[in-house]
Amino acid sequence: MTTLLRIDASSRHEGSYSRRFGDELIAHLSPTRTLTRDLVHTPVPHLPVGAISAFFSDESTWSQSQRTATEISEQLLSEITAADDIVITTPMYNFGIPSALKAWIDHIVRVGKTFSFDGKRFAGLVSNKRVFIVVAYGADGYTKGELKAADFVVPYLQFIFNFIGIDDVTIIPVEGMNVGLAELAESRARAAISAVSPRTA
Ligand SMILES: Cc1cc2nc3c(=O)[nH]c(=O)nc-3n(C[C@H](O)[C@H](O)[C@H](O)COP(=O)(O)O)c2cc1C
Repeated sequence: MTTLLRIDASSRHEGSYSRRFGDELIAHLSPTRTLTRDLVHTPVPHLPVGAISAFFSDESTWSQSQRTATEISEQLLSEITAADDIVITTPMYNFGIPSALKAWIDHIVRVGKTFSFDGKRFAGLVSNKRVFIVVAYGADGYTKGELKAADFVVPYLQFIFNFIGIDDVTIIPVEGMNVGLAELAESRARAAISAVSPRTA
């Protein structure tokens, strides 16, 4: 059995390219089970102060309010633990990720849970998972062209997943959707999807 965790971040439900190619990628991967977390339909809150104090203290000392404040983080982490593959679908908004996705990241990057720190070095604690990032851009030129330096989506997400221990990160760019390149972008995205290997149970 393979479990896939899907995280959606586009504010658009209708007409979203990142969601559409996410659908195509997941059909190609054909997992046994898909857990979906739509960060726009059901947003996760910005990190509450009680969660911050809890994340950096011993769980045995937590107050009831700290426990309550970490519930959503615990839920999101359990979804990651359950997943073999994780698919993130996201637009570029103002050269970076949407704040809905950043809020999710703030709940799942946790010392002692997804990374460790021994006073000198950080180490990722999440292993044996693949991440796929379907990213839709309005303009063209982020993957190879002159806007490469302005892409704070892919380098950031790649770094975050590597940081928590996931090295197997595949990017499916859907680039140039608002500048008349949709057809080319779609064929490139489909080629990238067909190059992905589905998991063998
Ligand atoms: C608030 C906002 C900011 C955007 N910023 C950028 C940007 O910085 N660079 C870019 O190429 N496209 C930008 N776009 C265009 C989107 O990335 C593009 O429409 C993409 O297809 C949106 O993803 P979706 O189709 O999954 O909704 C922006 C769109 C919105 C709504």
